[in-house]
Amino acid sequence: MLLGDVFPNFEADSTFGKMKLHDFLGDSWGVLFSHPRDFTPVCTTELGRAAQLSPEFIKRNVKLMALSVDSLEEHHGWSKDIMAYNNAEPGSQFPFPIIADDRRELVERLGMLDPEEKDRSGMPLTARCVFVIGPDKKLKLSILYPATTGRNFDEILRVIDSLQLTAHNRVATPVDWRPGNSVMVPPSIPETEAAALFPAGVYTKDLPSGKKYLRYTPQPNTQQQ
Ligand code: BEZ
Repeated sequence: MLLGDVFPNFEADSTFGKMKLHDFLGDSWGVLFSHPRDFTPVCTTELGRAAQLSPEFIKRNVKLMALSVDSLEEHHGWSKDIMAYNNAEPGSQFPFPIIADDRRELVERLGMLDPEEKDRSGMPLTARCVFVIGPDKKLKLSILYPATTGRNFDEILRVIDSLQLTAHNRVATPVDWRPGNSVMVPPSIPETEAAALFPAGVYTKDLPSGKKYLRYTPQPNTQQQ
């Protein structure tokens, strides 16, 4: 999958029932993320954190979906462990679907396997992939971690804030940007156009090269989704 590709409209079994990706997403953004196996330690911490942050994703109009090569029965059993790990109220439901790709069709089709990491039977493990899909069903961002390194779901929220802002405004977000921080005017916008486009002002940092490419402007306040 390359940035800008339309994400395949796959059908799958999930803990929320049968799903067809594009129908499930509707007008929302989506985050599809894979994990190596159910009932493993790092994956439990990751899905636990994603479950805790689920209201933050909902606030941003983003639907989460996890995926692994385990069965539906395993997903249902493991999600109870994850909720207990989170010290959630007994009986509370895991907040988003986990896709059962036990025939390994999706992990192969979507390039989610890590040939460097094998399970006990010698099969390649599923890597920790993250795909952010826009309301137009196109891939907006992908991240690929090996099985041995857990992800940071606060960072995934942060990049969604950037993706949603930059989908509606001709700006770019700098290193470690957080909502409310100044943003950058991209190099594609000529100086003559920048002043009109950014009425809040453009600040250009002087540099030894004399080139005027480090241009900041306050974050525009427009719709996020
Ligand atoms: C884990 O989730 O802890 C894990 C899974 C597969 C390989 C390494 C770690």
